[in-house]
Amino acid sequence: MKIRAAVLEEFGKPLNVTELDLAEPRAGEVLVRLAACGVCHTDMYTASGVDPSGYAPTVLGHEGAGFVEKVGEGVTSVVPGDLVVTLFSPQCRECIHCLSPDTNLCLAIREQQGKGYLPDGTTRLSRDGEPIRHFMGTSTFAEYTVMPEIALAKVSPDAAPDHACLFACGLSTGLGAAMFTAKVKPGSTCVVFGAGMVGLGAVAGARLQGAERIICVDMSDQRLELARGQGATDTWLGGPDVVERVLEQTGGFGADYTFEATGLVAVMRQAVEAARMGWGLCTVAGVAGKGETLDVIPRLLITGRRICGSSFGGVKGRDQVPELVKLSLDGKLDMTPFLSHSITLDEVNKGFELMERQDGIRSVISF
Ligand SMILES: NC(=O)c1ccc[n+]([C@@H]2O[C@H](COP(=O)([O-])OP(=O)(O)OC[C@H]3O[C@@H](n4cnc5c(N)ncnc54)[C@H](O)[C@@H]3O)[C@@H](O)[C@H]2O)c1
Ligand SMILES: [Zn+2]
Ligand SMILES: [Zn+2]
Repeated sequence: MKIRAAVLEEFGKPLNVTELDLAEPRAGEVLVRLAACGVCHTDMYTASGVDPSGYAPTVLGHEGAGFVEKVGEGVTSVVPGDLVVTLFSPQCRECIHCLSPDTNLCLAIREQQGKGYLPDGTTRLSRDGEPIRHFMGTSTFAEYTVMPEIALAKVSPDAAPDHACLFACGLSTGLGAAMFTAKVKPGSTCVVFGAGMVGLGAVAGARLQGAERIICVDMSDQRLELARGQGATDTWLGGPDVVERVLEQTGGFGADYTFEATGLVAVMRQAVEAARMGWGLCTVAGVAGKGETLDVIPRLLITGRRICGSSFGGVKGRDQVPELVKLSLDGKLDMTPFLSHSITLDEVNKGFELMERQDGIRSVISF
C-alpha cells in the first residue's frame, strides 16, 4: 500500500514528508494505522546525525498509538480495531530477560531492530523498489506502520490516542523509573532532576507510590509549575548548590531516592551526591551525549548509595503499559499539561523546532 511518512533522507536536514510503499504484515507482524504520535528527543537526536548508531534513509517516530488494521499469520494477542501503543522496547514473554522480574530489556529482536530491520531481517518500507529501513522497530511518523506483535501493547479502547501515545516513551519512562526501577516506598523523600516529560512522569510516579516529599529541580519556572501539578511538594531552580540544599533539608543525609531526567552528566553527578547515605538510590533515566562519562566519588558508594539506570522505566511494555494507561483513565494522572501542541504529519519539523525552543512538553502529531 501507499503511505505518507516523514523520512530522514540525510542527517542534519529537515524530514521529508513523502509517499512510500508499505508491504503487508508477515507472520508475527501487525499493520497499525497510526492515530497519534509524540515527537521525542531521540527522533531529533537521530535526525541530527550525532547518534553514532543512526542511519538514513529511515522513517523516524517511536511515540505512537493507533489501531490494528490487519494481522499477519500466527498473531493472537491483537485483532483489527484494537487500540495499541507502539513499543520500541518489546516484550516477547519468552526470553531469559522477559522471564526475569528484574529487567524489561527483551532480547528477542534487539539485533535486527538496531539495524533497522523487522525480526526476519527485511523491511516492509520501500520506495521505487529500494528498501527503506525502520527506526527503533516502530517508524511511527507515518500513516501506517508494520510492527512485530511483541512490540504492541493493547490498551483500553477508552483511552484517547493523543494521550495513549505519550505512554510509548517519555511518560512511561518517568513513571516506571519511580514505580518499577526504584520502587519508591511510601513516606520517602525523592528528588527529581528535570521537569520534561520524563521528570514529570517520575514526579507523578513518586506521588502514586506514596512519597511524602517530592522535590523537583529544573531551570524553568514554567515547568516547575507543571511539576507541582503532578505532585511535587517543593520546586527548586537548578544550580550548583542543589546537593547542599538537599543535604541541608534532610538532616545532612540526602534523599531516599533521586532521579535524573536531564541527560546532563553534571546533573547525574548531583543526583548521585544528593542520594542518602546508607540506602539512597539514584536512578538515571537521561541519555548522555556520545562519549560522556559520569564522575562518581567511590566513597559515596561504599557508604551505601546506589546508582542504577532505567531504560523505558523498567516497564515491561505489553503487561504494564496498559496498567499505566489505566491510571490515567482512573483519573490518577493529569494528562492535559503534557500535550502542549497538536500538529499534523506535514508539520513534523515544526515539532522539532518547538522542542528545540523547549516550547511545551510534547508536540503530538494527529493523523
Ligand atoms: N531511559 C529512557 O528509556 C529514556 C526515554 C526517553 C527519554 N530519555 C531521556 O531522558 C531525558 C529527559 O527527557 P525529556 O523528554 O524529559 O527531556 P526535556 O529536555 O524535555 O527535559 C529536560 C529538563 O531538564 C532541565 N534541566 C536542564 N539543566 C538542568 C539542571 N542543571 N538541573 C535540573 N534540571 C535541568 C531542563 O530545563 C528540562 O526541563 C533525555 O536525556 C532523554 O533523552 C530516556
Ligand atoms: Zn522517546
Ligand atoms: Zn523477551
